[in-house]
Amino acid sequence: MRPHISAEDGRLTMGGVDLVALADEFGTPLYVMDEDRIRQRYREFRDAFQSLYPRVRICYACKANTSLAVLHILRQEGAGADILSEGELFLVNEAGIPPESVIFTGNNKTDRELEAALDAGVTINLDAVHEMERLEGICRARGMTARVSFRVNPAVDPGTHPHLSTGLRESKFGIPEEEVLEAYRRAAAADGLEVAGIHMHIGSQITSTSPYEEACSRLMDLVGMLKQELDVELEFVDLGGGVGIRYREDEPYITPGQLAGAVVPIIRDKLSEYGLEEPELYLEPGRFIVGDAGVMLTRVSTIKATPYKKFIGTDAGFHVLARPLIYGSYHEVVVASRADAPPEEVVDIAGNVCESGDILARDRRVPAIRPGDVLAFLDAGAYGFIMASQYNSRPRPAEVLVHAGGYDLIREREGFEDLLRHQRVPERLREVR
Ligand code: LLP
Repeated sequence: MRPHISAEDGRLTMGGVDLVALADEFGTPLYVMDEDRIRQRYREFRDAFQSLYPRVRICYACKANTSLAVLHILRQEGAGADILSEGELFLVNEAGIPPESVIFTGNNKTDRELEAALDAGVTINLDAVHEMERLEGICRARGMTARVSFRVNPAVDPGTHPHLSTGLRESKFGIPEEEVLEAYRRAAAADGLEVAGIHMHIGSQITSTSPYEEACSRLMDLVGMLKQELDVELEFVDLGGGVGIRYREDEPYITPGQLAGAVVPIIRDKLSEYGLEEPELYLEPGRFIVGDAGVMLTRVSTIKATPYKKFIGTDAGFHVLARPLIYGSYHEVVVASRADAPPEEVVDIAGNVCESGDILARDRRVPAIRPGDVLAFLDAGAYGFIMASQYNSRPRPAEVLVHAGGYDLIREREGFEDLLRHQRVPERLREVR
């Protein structure tokens, strides 16, 4: 099924732990992450690049999953972090990820975010010339120096879902190639800005190396141009994240080894073409590290067969797993208590949100499903819990971490008190009329 997930006597297990037993103990919906799988995927990614290019730094894109336990695992592995908000800065600090290996990307940064990043000593990846001007003012006012890079829009099509394409010419991210020279000229001349690197991130769930090759080649030409025109030699080149995973068996995919094999020779060629020293190579994988390490468990409540469709109703919805609604994403579904049963019928697996778009899986061939069955949505470790909400006033689910046959609760299930949190009712409204 997946290397760390298997059916034992028909029961679905992950990391040696029976998933139905977890659903019984902790309730549903429930997110479950596999610690060993996260470590394995991190190492696979790092080793693929390090074996070809030793000066590499993996900045885990923590927007994929900011559970504190997950951040601690990656900190133990030696990962840095790619962050985009003050909240993520707070969390990576909390997990002890050293600021020198943190890069703050993100568009429309507020002054407050720029100040927080400056105070924390992380690298600030500028998304616009206007952002640079504002940061310069902040640094001047405080007598501080910021380590900066620019995010460049390399204008390539990564061939993924439109919502996940970030480096198209018309996309909102980064500065266009035409502005790069002037932006770096000004940054290099500014007091308080230490120009350290250059960045790109072309999109997410990318399943071919060619858009990376094209973008990387353009980025390296810019690196060469900065040396030739401004005599600026960069300390790092950041190729972003985006390596896709296999949500479906028949889906194309790329391995970190293939990506490294495709881009490292381009980098080396360009370095020698422009006579440059080796910069540090940053990469920002998110989904690849945590995606298949997580499952979302939900229990079947109501089954409804109409003359047109059969619906399997669950206790989760898009407030728990948003990806199917937002991107039309496919997540493989396994009946956790009869994981090896053959498919018998075609059904829609419906969520419990009062919106017709809330179908978690469409037209799936599944074994006979009974009320009370636990369904496992695979590959829910990235952009799963983190995109959950309290919509329809349903408290957010709990999260469990499995490791070597054992498990720990790493996030408590929210309660109704969490629906009241931070709300205030003006006294006059409490009056009985
Ligand atoms: N670096 C930057 C600057 C990013 O914006 C992202 C993701 C990454 C790295 C990591 O990309 P990854 O390796 O995870 O593909 N919610 C969507 C995905 C949004 C990705 C946003 N940026 C989903 O559920 O598919």
